[in-house]
Amino acid sequence: GRVAVLMGGRSAEREISLKSGRAVLAALQSLGVDAVGLDVDKTVSERIHQDKFDRAFIILHGRGGEDGEIQGVLQSLQIPYTGSGITGAVLSMNKRLSKQIWQSQGLPTPKYVRLNRQSTPQQIVEELGLPLVIKPVNEGSSIGMSKVTSVEALQQAISLAFDYDDEVIAEQWVHGAEYTVSILNGEALPVIRLTTPREFYDFEAKYLANSTEYLCPCGLSDADEKRCQQLAITAFHALNMSGWGRIDVMADQQGDFYLLEANSVPGMTDHSLVPMSARQAGISFENLVGQILKSSLE
Ligand code: DAL
Ligand code: MG
Repeated sequence: GRVAVLMGGRSAEREISLKSGRAVLAALQSLGVDAVGLDVDKTVSERIHQDKFDRAFIILHGRGGEDGEIQGVLQSLQIPYTGSGITGAVLSMNKRLSKQIWQSQGLPTPKYVRLNRQSTPQQIVEELGLPLVIKPVNEGSSIGMSKVTSVEALQQAISLAFDYDDEVIAEQWVHGAEYTVSILNGEALPVIRLTTPREFYDFEAKYLANSTEYLCPCGLSDADEKRCQQLAITAFHALNMSGWGRIDVMADQQGDFYLLEANSVPGMTDHSLVPMSARQAGISFENLVGQILKSSLE
């Protein structure tokens, strides 16, 4: 059947999605799939209906695409789609809800507080210490995020985050190493360790800097890598996610893992992490894309 590759959209991660989308589209076409790219706007449901698509490959990042909205549209059109369903998308896009669910199931995630525009820097620092991270609740690619190392810098970081979202959290900083776990068909792929000379693995480090290092194999012992993967799989299911995704994790200096966030439609650009993990597992980009597409029918 015909596959609509849904990309672009109107989120802050639009440009990343277009890159991911073009790569996915090319892979599907090289697999011989009748795939057509659609830049998503408010006419998307008419276009899917009129052009007789049978399935959708969702490669939209951020709001409108990773948060249950497009999943609901496709569900109402009775078009099977890749990745998480509505609930999984809603829960994984919202960093506060993700953390609440993980906490309620006894899964480790850094301590946090929900902020409002009246929150005072002193209160926040008393609660979480420094450094801390300010995050818009519903963003991706570290957009609107800041690592804050002084009380003086806090107010500006909070204002920036509120420019991107009505909901903002402050999260305790975990001193240690950052890892990411890609998940395909409910199984964890090899873990990647990320290192950057920047303050943290921010937008620049993710997509622009040449100084970011991606270690895969990640350098953990086999037993620790297994523990990290198992935690990620448990976290994935806790949020009702399915098909594929990526869970970001920090390890502190004792080697304990903490869940940072979940991504129900992770990046598929040439800098992206899921393709890198897949490659380490011997899965080519085309094969990865083919497996994700197949999972839309399960
Ligand atoms: N939010 C970006 C696309 C990622 O997680 O890869
Ligand atoms: Mg994310």
